[in-house]
Amino acid sequence: MSAVPQTSGPGPVTFSGLLAKKSQGEPIVMVTAYDYPSAQVAEEAGVDVVLVGDSGAMTVLGYPSTVPVSVEEMLMLAAATRRGLRTPLLIGDLPFGSYEVSDEEAVRTAQRFVKEAGCDAVKIERGGSTVSRARAIVAAGIPVCGHVGLTPQTATALSGYRAQGRTAEAAAAVLADAKALQEAGCFAIVLEAIPAEVTELIMAELDILVIGIGAGPSTDGQVLVFHDLLGIYTGPAARFVKRYADIRDQMVAGVTAYTEDVRGRRYPAPEHGYSMPEHERDRLRAGLDQKSL
Ligand code: KIV
Repeated sequence: MSAVPQTSGPGPVTFSGLLAKKSQGEPIVMVTAYDYPSAQVAEEAGVDVVLVGDSGAMTVLGYPSTVPVSVEEMLMLAAATRRGLRTPLLIGDLPFGSYEVSDEEAVRTAQRFVKEAGCDAVKIERGGSTVSRARAIVAAGIPVCGHVGLTPQTATALSGYRAQGRTAEAAAAVLADAKALQEAGCFAIVLEAIPAEVTELIMAELDILVIGIGAGPSTDGQVLVFHDLLGIYTGPAARFVKRYADIRDQMVAGVTAYTEDVRGRRYPAPEHGYSMPEHERDRLRAGLDQKSL
């Protein structure tokens, strides 16, 4: 079995290739993935960028929020995702508590995502002190994607998972954070859950890639969480989630059918088993009778 999906088509996505898409007005497609099979799906579907989001804390690790996930857990998810990818750019989300304390800590954590998991870039949340962390990571040679608006790692301080930038002052603060992250050298920024009008103002001010999630249609690209768009995650869905499939229903149906087959002795059938040549069976019987085996 091949470790990496063998698809034909263009070579790996590059930062300059993404900027070319922006300048040509071609939308950039980003999706989250957390393991080898979800990465293979993203690869085959032809997305441009894969994010190993810390949303994986909730979607695949079962935590109640993104806050508890550790660097080690995120590295395991990112490395598995890397093994399933050949073409899309891979961004690893630095988890809460792994980059905020100092620029040095931020650089060290980012380096682990590149060295140990094979990420092409890292993502960090918020403006404020994160701007300095972004500058330091970029200076260490690692591309950084910022993330402003609704920042789930600090959702408690934002009074919960709610849209941001809905007053003039709050919108101006999101714009200021986005500009500061661009100035710090980020190659891209994620805008989450802000009014479309605010996104348009930000778009007019930024030259870097802008990827939206619940930020309206004017961004350079969109990102959705794999488990949300495929209908695998069962928690509450944000307004911006669009369901493209109901995979969880199919998974439950499949496992239920298997359960019923085993209990009803319909599985395994003869075609699922292995047979032994008759002469070997005879030799076995004779050998056991004679105690010569
Ligand atoms: O963790 C994540 O999945 C994210 C995206 C929603 C942008 O940060």
